[in-house]
Amino acid sequence: MTVLAVPPTIVLAPMRRRHLRAVLQIEERTSTTPWSLGLFLAECRREERLYLVALDGTRVVGFAGMLFVAGEGHITTIAVDPDRHGERIGTRLLLGLLRGAVALDAAAVTLEVRASNGAALALYRRFGFAPAGVRKDYYSRPVEDALVLWLHDADAPEFAERCVAIEASLDAPLAAPIDVEEES
Ligand SMILES: CC(C)(COP(=O)(O)OP(=O)(O)OC[C@H]1O[C@@H](n2cnc3c(N)ncnc32)[C@H](O)[C@@H]1OP(=O)(O)O)[C@@H](O)C(=O)NCCC(=O)NCCS
Repeated sequence: MTVLAVPPTIVLAPMRRRHLRAVLQIEERTSTTPWSLGLFLAECRREERLYLVALDGTRVVGFAGMLFVAGEGHITTIAVDPDRHGERIGTRLLLGLLRGAVALDAAAVTLEVRASNGAALALYRRFGFAPAGVRKDYYSRPVEDALVLWLHDADAPEFAERCVAIEASLDAPLAAPIDVEEES
């Protein structure tokens, strides 16, 4: 008998209350200063926010979020289940967030990242983020500087082409378009 290995299909969806138990479990495993349930709930409900989960079937395997201020996007969080690192789930989440940013007319996107976080830095560089400054001792547990990264011209055709190339490198395209206007 031939057994065909079917790659898991990861679907992005807006973060909802029902996802938060799993989101918190991932948060606890990936952050030394984890967000609380109340903070996730409040963020998801605020205006000018885009919070996504990555689902493998019904299982939450990652999440990411962004807020919008004065036409700029600020990535507030991104994390993937440690058992699923390296499966390009973070890449999918960032693709979804950045396409959402463009759809919401944010042509510039920024974030902070621990200076030692090689995996995250590699992920952001691939999308064209570049360092623009350092926030001294920004993080605690352990205390560490943050690098401030910016992505400009996210509304330019070159960035859309970059996203198409990144998506083409995945084992399957993003499974569903994100409805950034969907109500909770
Ligand atoms: C950062 C994070 C979200 C990446 O998620 P992921 O699903 O493992 O990432 P991907 O599989 O999409 O990999 C993206 C890129 O990161 C790099 N990368 C992934 N894991 C890496 C590792 N352990 N070491 C170095 N680079 C790594 C690779 O360059 C990879 O690109 P490639 O697929 O072209 O090789 C994940 O490591 C994570 O949850 N970390 C803890 C939370 C965190 O640090 N969040 C960032 C806060 S700013």
